[in-house]
Amino acid sequence: MEVVPLSTAAEVGAVAADTIEALVRARTDAVLGLATGSSPLPAYQELIRRHRDGSAPSYDGVRCFTLDEYVGLPVGHPESYRETIFRELTDGLGIARDRVASPDASDPEHAGLRYEEAIVAAGGVDVQVLGIGADGHLAFNEPGSSLASATRMKTLTDQTRRDNARFFGSVDEVPRHVLTQGLGTILRARHLLLVATGAGKAAAVAAAVEGPLSASCPASVLQLHPHATVLLDEAAASSL
Ligand code: GLP
Repeated sequence: MEVVPLSTAAEVGAVAADTIEALVRARTDAVLGLATGSSPLPAYQELIRRHRDGSAPSYDGVRCFTLDEYVGLPVGHPESYRETIFRELTDGLGIARDRVASPDASDPEHAGLRYEEAIVAAGGVDVQVLGIGADGHLAFNEPGSSLASATRMKTLTDQTRRDNARFFGSVDEVPRHVLTQGLGTILRARHLLLVATGAGKAAAVAAAVEGPLSASCPASVLQLHPHATVLLDEAAASSL
């Protein structure tokens, strides 16, 4: 695992943007795995800025897979992860919406297997962008998730629902169920790019990077991956 300590969230965003852009320059048909949440936003904003100023490669041939999705929100809900990724990244890069896949929350029972098949059919994910939850979760794989898990439905912990309440009117409006790529799914991406910023992530980052490989810290699966990069600002690196 390559751990890259940087100073600020903006630097983390710029280095993450460089990584994604370099991939798309090398492979016009790159497959991106996309996380939502606050952590990747500086990277996404930087990619859109470069696209607008004309310095970026074309994203027309790129395909995207989101990491996870809420179950139970009406189609088109602004906080669904599908709408969020359109708004925060892919629309801004001119990527057609039908090139952005997400787990089908309208059919959670069959969505997992179909999503796994769709990722394989696309040739697998080239770069998977990841954030980390304060409890060490990856995507929506909460502590206790199998390290080999596939895309499936999960129940959120109270802490994650409280953490995500800021995007909704109140914690009661945060769905209880989600579809998430599994830890095994994530491990099959060719390059994992985890971004973490802020002191609230310091303990989870330390457990993921320096702690034992354990389902108690799902992000510790990065230790198993041959090409994992962890970009940290000073606060997120403060417990290493
Ligand atoms: C959510 C998402 C994750 C994200 C994590 C951290 O629960 N499902 O994909 O990485 O929270 O979010 P943030 O970056 O906003 O701290």
